[in-house]
This record gives sequence, structure tokens and C-alpha cells, in this order.
Amino acid sequence: MNIAVIGAGYVGVTTSIAFAEQGHHVFVVDLDKEKLEKLNHSILPFYEDGMEELLMKLVEQQHLIFTDSIQAAVRQSELIFIAVGTPPLPSGAANLEQIEQVSKAVGSALQEYRTIVIKSTVPIGTGEKVEFIIKEELDLRKKDIEFDVVANPEFLREGNALHDALYPDRIVVGCENMRARKMMEKLYQNSIAPILFTNRKEAELVKYASNAFLATKISFINELARVSEQLGINISVVSKGMGMDRRIGADFLRAGIGYGGSCFPKDTRALLAMSSEVGMPLKILEAVVEINETQVDWFMEKIVKSIGSLEGKHIGLLGLTFKPNTDDIREATSLKLIQELLLHKATVSAYDPKSTDIVTKIYPQVRFATCPLDAINNVDASILVTEWDEIIQMDWKEARKRVRQSYLFDGRNVLDPKKMVEYGFCYEGVGIGNLGKENLHG
Ligand code: UDX
Repeated sequence: MNIAVIGAGYVGVTTSIAFAEQGHHVFVVDLDKEKLEKLNHSILPFYEDGMEELLMKLVEQQHLIFTDSIQAAVRQSELIFIAVGTPPLPSGAANLEQIEQVSKAVGSALQEYRTIVIKSTVPIGTGEKVEFIIKEELDLRKKDIEFDVVANPEFLREGNALHDALYPDRIVVGCENMRARKMMEKLYQNSIAPILFTNRKEAELVKYASNAFLATKISFINELARVSEQLGINISVVSKGMGMDRRIGADFLRAGIGYGGSCFPKDTRALLAMSSEVGMPLKILEAVVEINETQVDWFMEKIVKSIGSLEGKHIGLLGLTFKPNTDDIREATSLKLIQELLLHKATVSAYDPKSTDIVTKIYPQVRFATCPLDAINNVDASILVTEWDEIIQMDWKEARKRVRQSYLFDGRNVLDPKKMVEYGFCYEGVGIGNLGKENLHG
């Protein structure tokens, strides 16, 4: 099929590559000409392992065409995907400006029947809104052209984007008539993933509900970690025990210093805003957001309780991105942690395999190290913030020799506490307690 994807962000580019890899011809549309030029030379606007190689192949095969003309793309494609950003407004609600602009442009470009598919994460009722704007545009042009608007949310994870786009767990398609459904069936005819057909609003809510539920699992375990610590119980063992129940599932039960990224923080607040608008604020989600927003504060209190005043102390951070295998620092817990450490008048060094440039601009006071060992050279405490393999597998024996004091805070519960104590660290995780105090004066 010929497909247009409007918006060359994370979702738009990944979706385009996945469709092109499945044999479709994809027109990728964006207003940013520089971005398009780079994509045409197989340079991605973000880091995703293995994706640039595939991009190069698909560009060479001319399965992917980059253009800044919505009109050209709409006229040549059967399906028009909208994958532009929906950033948060100060109220937490999603800003639909880009969606509205694109809808207008699509309306003024339509010449014959098209199926318009919304991939962006959008508030409930956006499908209707898009339909209305396109109709308005057609009325202005005095054209009576038929079209359908479908909701087909994306569930990909950064760091696994390509895999998730090519092999999703499920495909959710919200449409209002058989004509649109048939188009979507044709698109996904070779997919092995189960397809759930719903109406448009249901599909829109599935996306928010899924992200909110996963965030709820994380905040649940994070709050329980605070309690476990008081009770002297290891939360990792409790997570393991809970996760063995298939009804609960083991995923998203790892306690840590909180979730970040471009989706969970934004989508939880947006769903909260939507529920409040209809007079039913989701109380559970209020708690989820609050726990996440206070998790770094709670972690900082632990640090101060162990080390004492941080004034003049040297702290080494290991990892800065909101999760490993991405260069994304949007809503990363590291940013709040750095801010707090600086407020406490500590000096901070940090290492991250991917995000350094961006963080340097925000916090020029932080010394950026070239490797994990360098980041903890002579520090009074080391903090693991992001669980990159390179950091988990670093030479911890050597690390112990480099630090001034042996405090090691594991913000992701990914290190083996016993081993760390053996290496001579005083280890503290999230809801795991404090092990190896005897090493403090070693
Ligand atoms: C998420 C959803 O998983 C994806 O389906 C949706 O399309 C976009 O939002 P992503 O933001 O890429 O994907 O990352 P994800 O792997 O879900 O992790 C989000 C955050 O939760 C990270 O900061 C991660 O460190 C944290 N997390 C995850 C935990 O703290 N504990 C866990 O057990 C799992």
C-alpha cells in the first residue's frame, strides 16, 4: 500500500520504517526540512539500536520517501497516518495544536476517499475533532469527498521501538464503519499480532489506560518499597513473589527512583486531567503521579540520612537517560536528582553512554566523565541512576578502589547487594535496606 505518515518524531519514524520493512511505500512528512534531509541520509533524530542500518536500506530501496508536502503525500497514499506530538499544556492536558494543523492540511489536500489514522496519543474525542476539522475544510472548498478517521494507538517502547513496531503484542483499531475497518484489515493482513477492533473512543482510551496502568504498577511497588524498608523487608524478593502469579505478571514491578520518559509522566497527567474534566478525577492516578513525583525526594532523604550533610561532598552519578538504550532524558529522574544534589551544595560528576551533550547544556556545573569509573573517581557516594549494561557490568572491584567513601546507592535495584558488599561497598537500594555498613571504615 502507499502510506503517508505525518510527523517524523519517534513514533512517526519508527512506524514508517516498520511499514516500509513490511513492503509498503511510505511518504514521511515533516515541516522540518533539516530533519528530513538527515533522515534521507539515514541519520535518525534519536538513538535506537539497529534502526539507522534499516533506514539506510529502505531509503536505498525507495520504500521510504521524505517530503515536506502534506499535499503530495496525501494525494499519493491510501492511508494517512497522523503521528505528530501532543505535548502537555500547563494543566497536564494534551496540546492538540499540531493535530489540528495537520487535520486542516489534510482537509485541504483531499481529492478522493482516504482513511486518516491517528497514531499520536490523543485525548478521548480527538477522532471526532479531526473528522470535524477535515469536514470544515472540505466545506470551505465546497467539496463533497468521503473520508474516515480511525484511532490506531502505538504501544512501542523506546529502546525496543523497532521490535515493538514490527512485532506488537496487540493491535488496537478504533473505527466507526466497515469501510475503514476493511482498509485497516488490509493494512494488517500479514500481522501475526491479535487485532482488537473497537470504536474510536475506546481505542483512544486503551492507550491512556495501558500507560496509566503500567505507571500504577511502578508507583505501587515504589510506595511499597518505602514501607518494606521500614519493616526490614527486601522489596525485590516481594516483587519476585508477586510476579510469579500470572494474574499479576512480573513486569513493571521493579522498584526504583521513579518512572520518566516522554509517555508515562505525560499520559498519566493527561488522563487525570480528562477524568477531572468529566467530574471524576481518578484518585488512584493522583496517587500514582504523587508517588512518582516524590520518589526522588524520598531517595534523597535516604542519602542524607546515610551520609549526613551533602555540602562539599562529591557525588558520582552512573546513567542519566530515563532508561537504558535510548538518548532520551525527557522527564528523566536524573535531572531532578542533579537539581537536588546541587541544591544541597554537593559537587556532581556523571557518566552516561548517550545523553551527555543535552544534560551539559542544562547543568554546566556537572563534570561529565568519559567512562563509569571516571564518574566515581574520588567520590563520597556513587549513585546508579540508569541501568545501562555497561554500568551494571563495570569493574566494581576497581570501582571500590577509585571511590573516597564506599556509599553505593542503587536507584534501580539491579546490582547484586551481596557482591557489592564483598567488593567493599556499603550498599543501599530502593526498599532493600542498608548492607555492608562495616565497609564504611574499611
Ligand atoms: C512506555 C510504554 O511501555 C509504551 O508501551 C508506550 O508506548 C510509551 O511509554 P517507554 O516510555 O519507552 O514506554 O518506557 P518503559 O520501558 O515503559 O519505561 C518507562 C519508565 O518506567 C522508565 O523510566 C523505567 O525506568 C520505569 N520502570 C519500568 C520502572 O521504574 N520499573 C519497572 O519495573 C519498569
